[in-house]
Amino acid sequence: MPALAAPTLTDGTVTLRAHRRDDTDRVLEQCLDPASQRWTTVPVPYDRELALSFVEDLMPQGWAEDREWGFAIEVGGRYAGTCSLRHDGSGRAEIAYAAHPDVRGTGTVGRALRLLVDWGFEDRGLRAIGWWAHVGNWASRKAAWRLGFGIEGTVRAAQPQRGELRDSWVGTLLREDPRAPTHPWLVTPVLEADGLRLRAPEESDVPRIVQACSDPVSQRWLGQLPSPYDEASAHAWLAAGHERLATGTGTDWVVVDPADDLVLGSVGWFAHTPGVECEVGYLTHPSARGRGVASRATQAVLRHAFEQLGVRRVRAFAAAENTASRQVLQAAGMTCTGIERLGARVRDGVADAALYDVLAEDWRAGRSSASVRR
Ligand SMILES: CC(C)(COP(=O)(O)OP(=O)(O)OC[C@H]1O[C@@H](n2cnc3c(N)ncnc32)[C@H](O)[C@@H]1OP(=O)(O)O)[C@@H](O)C(=O)NCCC(=O)NCCS
Repeated sequence: MPALAAPTLTDGTVTLRAHRRDDTDRVLEQCLDPASQRWTTVPVPYDRELALSFVEDLMPQGWAEDREWGFAIEVGGRYAGTCSLRHDGSGRAEIAYAAHPDVRGTGTVGRALRLLVDWGFEDRGLRAIGWWAHVGNWASRKAAWRLGFGIEGTVRAAQPQRGELRDSWVGTLLREDPRAPTHPWLVTPVLEADGLRLRAPEESDVPRIVQACSDPVSQRWLGQLPSPYDEASAHAWLAAGHERLATGTGTDWVVVDPADDLVLGSVGWFAHTPGVECEVGYLTHPSARGRGVASRATQAVLRHAFEQLGVRRVRAFAAAENTASRQVLQAAGMTCTGIERLGARVRDGVADAALYDVLAEDWRAGRSSASVRR
């Protein structure tokens, strides 16, 4: 039997209820907010008449026609946002949400969405809830991740928005899924490394990243780098780094001079098997080579991998003829374990790779005496 009006649901802090006429001004503020306009299909320009029609017509109609179960989110006695489940009677619904700017970052949305999905599964008998967001809407993705949604992929040109088709992420929460994150969402820590600082890459680093990655020596040895390497390549690397953090699969740092924050290189870990191993990789800006930047940065990442990630082994490799890179690995305390024939992608194709690793116990034993060439 269809539910014809919104029930009231509460966890004692946040309440979900039917929209009301006195929500209109706050709905208007929410829909004029740039993040709402960027990431949702809210009409632009937006005005008070549209806000009034949203609370008095659009939301009640969704209930009356049994196609969208829309709730006003209320906290502290005030309208704080809207969340809904759009369904077609199949047992699957799509979740949608938007918050008033002044409650973002307060946990209100998380509480509201938990009430909504619990109600959808338990009271409305849903078996699956789908989530869609335009690629890049990290705040929405984090909210979905917190609820336990599995983020299953990117669909090109998936969602219409004001005449455009937006690439979108898609995820699903099944009734039987745990309503908790399925994997960690990493935060890039700042690491201090013997006169260097490792921090999260930022948009403002793009010009230096382009210089470092388009340098002929970088290009020669790192065959996986786009060629030519331009600003779009650097932006793609930044986006891939966000993805690695959000999926718990890796962390990238830029290595900077603490005095002026100038980017001297980059370093990162990836290919992580929890409790077992991960791999490290690095790159130095041509102006900063020969000063132990990559060695010191790699040492800092090894410490992070052993002490924070808890791996037993860290791996790395360099093209066998890339003498400078092999020295970095040796200086960082890693041991060459052999040569893998044609194991390295280089600009000209493939080349033999020199394989390196260090075990946690060796690293602990050698840590205090490790010295890095400057
Ligand atoms: C999506 C929305 C409802 C989430 O509400 P919220 O959780 O209160 O939102 P916040 O802005 O505080 O962001 C949530 C988290 O995302 C994180 N986040 C935001 N931008 C990020 C970015 N670029 N990279 C990584 N994380 C990011 C925030 O740090 C925050 O993390 P925390 O909770 O661990 O501190 C709210 O941002 C909103 O109304 N956005 C506009 C409408 C919208 O996008 N709706 C969803 C359409 S699919």
